[in-house]
Amino acid sequence: MKTVSQISELRAQVKAWRQQGLTVAFVPTMGNLHAGHISLVDEAHKHADKIVASIFVNPMQFGVNEDIDNYPRTMSDDQQKLTAAGTDLLFTPTPDIIYPKGLTKQSFVEVPNVSDGYCGESRPGHFRGVATVVCKLFNLVQPDVACFGLKDYQQVQVIQTMVEDLSMPITIVPVATSREESGLALSSRNGYLTADEKEAAPVLQQNLQWLADQISIGFAKSDSIDFIGLARQAAKAINHAGLHTDYLHVCHAKTLQPASEDDTQLVILAAAHCGKARLIDNLQVSLA
Ligand code: PAJ
Repeated sequence: MKTVSQISELRAQVKAWRQQGLTVAFVPTMGNLHAGHISLVDEAHKHADKIVASIFVNPMQFGVNEDIDNYPRTMSDDQQKLTAAGTDLLFTPTPDIIYPKGLTKQSFVEVPNVSDGYCGESRPGHFRGVATVVCKLFNLVQPDVACFGLKDYQQVQVIQTMVEDLSMPITIVPVATSREESGLALSSRNGYLTADEKEAAPVLQQNLQWLADQISIGFAKSDSIDFIGLARQAAKAINHAGLHTDYLHVCHAKTLQPASEDDTQLVILAAAHCGKARLIDNLQVSLA
């Protein structure tokens, strides 16, 4: 695997592949890679001839109270994992390369509605930062396909909406969440959990599953479903186990608006604090 940090080197390599008629898949990351990230590379192989990954800890998507300096950086480990997974090119730009004018004078991409609630509400400006850097990386790499993890469900909807709204010629491939045996979604943030917290953390996924079951049972019996009341019960159980729920909502799977009786494609979105870590998870519920 070749690692480049300059835009000119990235463009030259992708251009050479294009001249050979090869297709390109892209996997953007912020590094500190685990099996969930690598599953995106595995998926990418199914869709294109060459795989480009990026590692860039994007300052624009971190809030003022979020500690970007302490974001784990494990470059040589990450390079080994990406090489083993058959990545062809790794792009590792610095903030100066991505934002030469600094953050405040930089144009940005705002994706309304899907960015607004949930993580968008808890982390103001976060999805503007994500959409802007992903748009910029798409323009640099110009991939045919890009893979994103469903662990960050709202992020996938933001990117998908941006691509549709702005007519970007890129296919977004959503990839299922990789989990530990306990059900806990793999995340760089799990490294902040103590042994006790790690034991408690799977309660988040367990209660999303409980809530999904209640919704499916209610739908099968043609009962009217109290999405808000059920979500409140699930949040209560999660808090009872020592986590602190930030939000837990049943939503329309695409628009992310609060679920209504007529919706058949749903997603339960949740975030909860567990010790120092803020965990997010979700579960799709298909009723038809
Ligand atoms: P990061 O948190 O490094 O995640 C990179 C990609 O890996 C995202 O698409 C994320 O959804 C996916 N991912 C993380 N954990 C996963 C898991 N357990 N199973 C499957 N996929 C998983 O998300 C970002 O970086 C940034 O916001 C980025 C898109 C790179 C823009 O800066």
